[in-house]
Amino acid sequence: MTVGIDKLAFYTPGLALDMVELAKARGDEPDKYTIGIGQSVQSVVPNYEDVVTMGVNAAKKILTAADIEAIEMLIFATESGVDNSKSAAVFAQKLLNLSPYIRTIEMKQACYAGTYGLMQAKDYVRLHPDKKVLVIAADIARYGLKTAGEVTQGAGAIAIVVSADPAIAAIEDDSVYMSQDVPDFWRPVASTTALVDGHLSTDIYKEMFLTLWSRYTAKTKLALADFAGFAFHLPYTKMGKKALDQILDQATPEQQKFLQEQLAASQVYNRQVGNLYTGSVYLALLSLLQQGQIIAGQRLAVFSYGSGAEAELFSLKIQENFQSAIVGQDVVTMLADRRLLSVSEYEDVFNSQLFDYQVDATTAGPKNTDRCQFVGWQNGHRRYQMS
Ligand code: COA
Repeated sequence: MTVGIDKLAFYTPGLALDMVELAKARGDEPDKYTIGIGQSVQSVVPNYEDVVTMGVNAAKKILTAADIEAIEMLIFATESGVDNSKSAAVFAQKLLNLSPYIRTIEMKQACYAGTYGLMQAKDYVRLHPDKKVLVIAADIARYGLKTAGEVTQGAGAIAIVVSADPAIAAIEDDSVYMSQDVPDFWRPVASTTALVDGHLSTDIYKEMFLTLWSRYTAKTKLALADFAGFAFHLPYTKMGKKALDQILDQATPEQQKFLQEQLAASQVYNRQVGNLYTGSVYLALLSLLQQGQIIAGQRLAVFSYGSGAEAELFSLKIQENFQSAIVGQDVVTMLADRRLLSVSEYEDVFNSQLFDYQVDATTAGPKNTDRCQFVGWQNGHRRYQMS
């Protein structure tokens, strides 16, 4: 029996910031942002969106009545959750009209938690093949105005339905993983912005990828030539190149060229969105599936990394009808439809987030939308609206 990704959807808010404009405002060379780091645009989160709304907005693009009937677990991966006690999954369960008789849980380990959720989902469906699991990976990458990490901000959510006989990709039983205590990125409980040693993070990411690649190839006896592409966790798109470059000499020049083209295809969406932490590696996967040269039967590698640090490398087998399963995901239009902000508008939006639960407040999101919105605080409770 194969188990894996049956449906895959992406959502990002409708505001965005051009990285050339940000570079100019910060006194940096635009090429540093667009070439050196590899980011062109970043999604900006208005105060009527959060990880719950983004996750719900992603999931409702794909859930049918049959899915809702079969879903027995909702795993919500995030490192920018809205509550230190109540899981984002419980909010999402209600907003998505899922059954009350399901398990709901929030998971955290920096950008890695979505992959942990996916693996839990795979194992659960293997034991209960008539059931499905919904995995949501949603985050807001928020480093702060005028920080080195600002260019790598972003936001969005991925929703994945895991089932038996999946339409998109089977998750192979070939994972290798590792964990080690590293001070490369963290967010103290009282802080609304992440703290990061970006250069250390890059080094650890590269090291863990190399270590896991060699464990993976030793364990599976597969070689670079067996892969049609890689979906890397992309805190910024240059990171994927830095990782892949370390092993490219294991392929022929022709294979190297092909893998580099596939890498570029996997970076298309992340370059336009920025970092979405837990969802980034799966946005890279969606980008590769839609923008790359993929045919059924091929094997893709997925490298998931979460600072702190934990990483996992595994492969996916592309299924016969994967094209029809992803064709409805019109990411290009969603990205093009975002409203571009000036730098000062972006700074105002950045500063308008409603973090203070002690002050009753209402957001001013657009009316007549079918999207889920955070409408504000009332007596210390977060209020959501699903029109
Ligand atoms: N034209 C082209 N490239 C340029 C350039 C220019 N004018 N100026 C600089 N660059 C290149 C640099 O050579 C460097 O490339 P390299 O990494 O291949 O050597 C790149 O741009 C970045 O320059 P750097 O000086 O390292 O930038 P920085 O000190 O501002 O840090 C990040 C960049 C990405 C490390 C920083 O934004 C960050 O920490 N972001 C957060 C990353 C993160 O989230 N990590 C944790 C999750 S995995």
